[in-house]
Amino acid sequence: MHLLKLMDLSSKQINEILNLADQLKFEKKNGIEHHLLKGKTLGMIFSKSSTRTRVSFEVGMYDLGGSALFLSSRDLQIGRGEPVEDTARVLSRYVDGIMIRTFAQKEVEDLAKYGSIPVINGLTDYCHPCQVLADLMTIREYKGGFAGTKLCYIGDGNNMTNSLIVGGIKMGMEVSVACPKGYEPDAEIMKWAAKNGKFTCTSDVMEAAKNADVLYTDVWASMGQESEAEERKKIFKGYQINADVMNVAADKAMVMHCLPAHREEEITAEVFEAHANEIFDEAENRLHAQKAVLVKCFQK
Ligand code: CP
Ligand code: NVA
Repeated sequence: MHLLKLMDLSSKQINEILNLADQLKFEKKNGIEHHLLKGKTLGMIFSKSSTRTRVSFEVGMYDLGGSALFLSSRDLQIGRGEPVEDTARVLSRYVDGIMIRTFAQKEVEDLAKYGSIPVINGLTDYCHPCQVLADLMTIREYKGGFAGTKLCYIGDGNNMTNSLIVGGIKMGMEVSVACPKGYEPDAEIMKWAAKNGKFTCTSDVMEAAKNADVLYTDVWASMGQESEAEERKKIFKGYQINADVMNVAADKAMVMHCLPAHREEEITAEVFEAHANEIFDEAENRLHAQKAVLVKCFQK
C-alpha cells in the first residue's frame, strides 16, 4: 500500500491507522517492544527542510525494528536531473519503502508508479497526509471522537488545508476554512468536500471560527514561497488565531498547528503558549501515527 494522499484512503482505512497508532503509542509508553518491521529499510528523500517528519520517521523505523536512510535530494543524482522513473527502479532494489518530501505531487505519484515498493508522501505543495493522520489522532484523543465536532482552519489554503479538509470530512467532522480571496484551497477538494459533508470556505475569520471545537492554522508562506513572504504578511494580516478568535469559538476549543509556527503572524504567542500541550501532543503523535502508516504500507 502507498500513502500518496488522504483522498486515496477510505474512512475505514483511516480509522484502522488511527487505532493502530493508539495501540503503538500505548505500547511505547509502557515499554512494550513492537518490532513489526524487523530488518526493513526505509529510504527518506528530502527536497525540503524538516524537523518533525525526518526525526519521527527515523525513530519510528528504529522502534519498529527496521532502519531509515536520510537521502537529501541535494546529494542524490535526482537533484542533478536523474529521472524519477530511474530513481524509483533503483531504490526499489535496495530498500523496502520510500518516504519523500518534495514540491510536485506528480513526483510522488511517479515514484509509486515506476517503483515496486510502498511510497509515503512526507509533504508536497499539494498535501501533507502524514501530518493530518497525526492531527486526527490528536483530535480523537482530546475530543473523544469526530461526530459533532467542528474543525476550523484559518490562513493560507495550502497543502495542510487540502489534507485537513479531506481528513476532516472523511471522519465526519464539519470543516470551515477562512482564507483571503485568491488563496483558497484546491478547487476540486472543495467541490468534493461540499458534496460529501458539511464544508464552508469564507474570507471572514470570525464566521468560520464561530463555535469551532478545533482551531487550526499554518504558516502564511510555505516552503518554496520564501520570496512571497513579505507580500503575504500584508495579504494575510488578520488571518490569525488570537484571543478574539478564541472568544467566538466553542468552550474548551483546542488549538492546533502543524509547526513550525510564526508567532504574531498566523497565531499569537499568547494563544500558542496557552495551547502548547495540544500542539506538542500533536507533534508527538507524528511518531505514533507514522509508525502505524509504515506498518500498514509495508504489510501489503
Ligand atoms: N509539521 C511538519 O511536517 O514538520 P517538519 O517540516 O519539521 O517535518
Ligand atoms: N505549509 C507548510 C507546512 C509545513 C509542515 C509548508 O509547506 O511549508
